[in-house]
Amino acid sequence: MTESIRFILNGELREVSGLPPSMTLLQYLRERAHLTGTKEGCAEGDCGACTVAIGRLNNGKVDYQSINACIAFLPTLDGREVVTVEHLKSKTGQLNPVQDAMVKCHGSQCGFCTPGFVMALSTLMHNCKDAKDDDIQDAIAGNLCRCTGYRPILDAARLANKSKDRELPSDVNALEKIQRKKMFAYEAGGAKFFAPVTGEELVEVYAQYPNATMLAGGTDVGLWVTKFHMDLPVIIYTGNVEGLRSIRETAEGLEIGAAVSYTDAFEALAAYDGSMLDMFKRFASVHIRNAGTVGGNIANGSPIGDGPPPLIALNAKLVLRSKAGARTLNLEDFFLAYKKQDRKQGEIVEKIIVPKKPAGVQFRVYKISKRFDQDISAVCGAFAADIQNGKVVEARIAFGGMAGTPKRATHAENALKGQPWNEATLQKAVAALDKDYAPMTDMRASAKYRADVARNLLKRFFIETTEPDVETQVYRYAE
Ligand SMILES: Cc1cc2nc3c(=O)[nH]c(=O)nc-3n(C[C@H](O)[C@H](O)[C@H](O)COP(=O)(O)OP(=O)(O)OC[C@H]3O[C@@H](n4cnc5c(N)ncnc54)[C@H](O)[C@@H]3O)c2cc1C
Ligand code: FES
Ligand code: FES
Repeated sequence: MTESIRFILNGELREVSGLPPSMTLLQYLRERAHLTGTKEGCAEGDCGACTVAIGRLNNGKVDYQSINACIAFLPTLDGREVVTVEHLKSKTGQLNPVQDAMVKCHGSQCGFCTPGFVMALSTLMHNCKDAKDDDIQDAIAGNLCRCTGYRPILDAARLANKSKDRELPSDVNALEKIQRKKMFAYEAGGAKFFAPVTGEELVEVYAQYPNATMLAGGTDVGLWVTKFHMDLPVIIYTGNVEGLRSIRETAEGLEIGAAVSYTDAFEALAAYDGSMLDMFKRFASVHIRNAGTVGGNIANGSPIGDGPPPLIALNAKLVLRSKAGARTLNLEDFFLAYKKQDRKQGEIVEKIIVPKKPAGVQFRVYKISKRFDQDISAVCGAFAADIQNGKVVEARIAFGGMAGTPKRATHAENALKGQPWNEATLQKAVAALDKDYAPMTDMRASAKYRADVARNLLKRFFIETTEPDVETQVYRYAE
């Protein structure tokens, strides 16, 4: 049970034992490895000061992604590579192109945020041979700077983008040597951590520890420790279970494993409609999307998660599995009440099945939040309507932020069904929304605002599906 955590840190093998499983990578870097270039700002995934690159072996090469070290538990790094800002300088001591450009373009003042920006941009340069302005803005949407202003940082990114020297240093052989074929089990100070590699191991260990905390990307669970100081005596990590990390296209549609990150699910989900891509690009930041999973976004039962409304509108099914077998339910039926889900003891969320969008079905999803980037929704509305010869044959509407759970608007759907898709029908459906929801007031929005927004989003859906020439695109920056 007392295996050590093995990972490659800046080119060197680390074998760690005796440290609590819920110690974060950031704590380890700063307090144990004395790599203090990586900073702590918020300790909740919001500011990007702690950005590092994580390498994962994939078919004989290393895939790098930026993550927030402040909410990543150390044992989740087992079998991975970690690159921090200290490792970017070449052996001859030259700055890497992003660091060099930050100096030349005056992209840093107090310097606190700078390592985070440098890591975010260096990972982008590694992954993207010619980064466009949109890619650059997306890559640093999760990094905050309080003194420089973003223009010089963007200038630096554009300058670095001209460089040919953009690879992060990687060591495939070293990574290959630390891969595991069976479950990794770690224990320290009485706390246990399990990282199964097969679905069988996963349900077996969960049956053994039914009160364990299930951990996927940790973008929620990490905060339970860093912000709420919770003890997690037993953690089961899903991030190495191959079956949960894959996306499969079948004749019926898309099967997305619960541990697939939003970054990885992006392309497949965007195929349903461009509005899906627009919405998911505003889901947190790149660093959070690289870690946060589709399954975690559902299993957490949040009424304001961005994944459930579009998936419910698309009639997605959820597959839950335990040692006793699997069961499938409509995604909307999983959410019973505020933070209460239909998940029995020993059951894990295994996958989400999203049916193919039938021809003729119009689909849109819209996210409304106070900030454009890196903000949780006040309201998220998703609409799927089968419109044939100007008539609504079937409609599915789901909202987040309007009730204690993500919820369908059945009254509005009934007002649309079988009716001509015109202004009069729209008005009836808009009025019916008042029967579907009694939203609450909180720090994100007032009840009135939410109700107004829901009505307006349905109107927007009507306009976009009846007057395709009307421009309803929302712009991120003043242009
Ligand atoms: C800075 C920041 C910004 C964010 N922005 C957004 C946003 O814009 N939109 C949004 O919707 N969310 C946002 N979130 C919330 C979060 O990132 C998402 O909900 C994410 O998808 C959670 O996935 P995860 O893999 O990190 O889950 P985790 O934190 O690992 O787990 C979340 C919950 O699900 C359970 N769980 C995970 N996997 C399983 C499984 N397979 N079976 C059973 N239970 C499981 C865990 O036990 C836990 O209760 C944000 C979070 C942060 C920190
Ligand atoms: S310290 Fe702010 S995102 Fe990690
Ligand atoms: S340079 Fe001071 S916070 Fe960015």
